[in-house]
Amino acid sequence: MNYGKSLTVHPVRNGLGIIALRAFEPGDLLCRVRGRIVTANQVWRYWKKDRRRGENCFRYDADHYLDPEGEIGAYANHACNPNARVVRTPRGIYLRALKPIAAGREITHDYSTLLGADDVWTMKCNCGERNCRRIVANVARLPAVVMRRYQRLNAIPAFILKTMTS
Ligand SMILES: C[S@@+](CC[C@H](N)C(=O)[O-])C[C@H]1O[C@@H](n2cnc3c(N)ncnc32)[C@H](O)[C@@H]1O
Ligand SMILES: [Zn+2]
Repeated sequence: MNYGKSLTVHPVRNGLGIIALRAFEPGDLLCRVRGRIVTANQVWRYWKKDRRRGENCFRYDADHYLDPEGEIGAYANHACNPNARVVRTPRGIYLRALKPIAAGREITHDYSTLLGADDVWTMKCNCGERNCRRIVANVARLPAVVMRRYQRLNAIPAFILKTMTS
């Protein structure tokens, strides 16, 4: 399945993933993460009926998540050395390139940058990167060196950072 002219979905190391069909430069907009805005309670209901769907939801603000079912965001895999970051604007959630991305490369972001300090979800990581953390947990559990790097790159949305102080 293609999503516009720039992205497609293909089998990768961790199931299906998003693949670049052209090169991107750091800062380039990769895609909008479309989906339905749902409450945290709705995500719990997904969890009970269809764990996969619950796990796919993107944190949207303190009380809401974005459910990307049927959209490209449902295929966004995690890596501990990601090439994309999630950006939240008043209009929605977007993926932007963090580094140069060649055509044919998988697009990944770091799930911890969207897991508030109050999020209890964790995932065993199989990204295969040299700096793999093995367990992906919430933003408060990021190693200090990774946290500093992501803050420098503006890779953690403000509403996620706020969960560390509130
Ligand atoms: C948003 S979906 C991504 C699409 C998924 N790969 C598929 O085939 O449907 C997120 C799920 O992909 C898997 N996943 C993504 N990144 C992973 C990683 N680095 N290591 C292990 N599993 C991963 C996990 O099952 C996670 O809950
Ligand atoms: Zn990893």
